Amino acid sequence: EMLTVKAGDLKGRKALVTAGPTYEAIDPVRFIGNHSSGKMGIAIAEELARRGAAVHLVLGPSSQVVTTAGIDLHRVTSAEEMYNVCVAQFAGADIAVLSAAVADYTPAVKAPEKIKKNDDTLVLELTRTKDILKTLGGLKKQGQMLVGFALETSDGRSYALGKLQSKNADFIVLNSLSDEGAGFGFDTNKITIFGKDGSERSFERKPKQQVAKDIVDTIVK
Ligand code: CTP
Ligand code: CA
Repeated sequence: EMLTVKAGDLKGRKALVTAGPTYEAIDPVRFIGNHSSGKMGIAIAEELARRGAAVHLVLGPSSQVVTTAGIDLHRVTSAEEMYNVCVAQFAGADIAVLSAAVADYTPAVKAPEKIKKNDDTLVLELTRTKDILKTLGGLKKQGQMLVGFALETSDGRSYALGKLQSKNADFIVLNSLSDEGAGFGFDTNKITIFGKDGSERSFERKPKQQVAKDIVDTIVK
């Protein structure tokens, strides 16, 4: 199947994209984070902008530089900050693609001073963060397209299908960490896109820029 990619086919559309990790502060000098580079989500934001959309990119702590015209960059640190920007921006969005690796848990309290080492063990209490994708799924109106990601180490297909339902998403993009050269830190990715219409498209491993095209093509269709 040949897909022709027309520059400008998203002109007049507004898109919201999340990317990167979140950092959850333990004390003023430490945090809980993850290995997400932000590259996949940035590539999606760049592809949406290239095709004419006005893009709001909500980016967690990432060393990547984003200078693309047409991308309004919102740099955030924590899951809570990312949630607040996303909820504020979603109302005007035609498309939302949530690719960020959002922390599921955050320290119940942020220590005001650096924690000193005392005992042989230290127990941190963590509480659940708000689920941004699920929240936007609940706010979604007719005509809005919501795309989530699923990162799994096993049983990817059944978890992805479950997330499609539980988060009221239109598509879930599955990437399996078990695949060589795919996922965190790599410049390539291997994905399967599940649609709420029952569709399932698997793609070869390819550069994240081309993966972004496949994702945007699937949404636009
Ligand atoms: N997500 C989100 N807000 C969160 C957690 C996850 O928006 N607090 C989004 C991610 O950006 C992704 C999707 O939800 O698009 C699925 O994330 P994933 O971590 O795979 O699933 P979870 O629902 O968090 O479940 P689990 O980690 O237990 O598999
Ligand atoms: Ca999670």
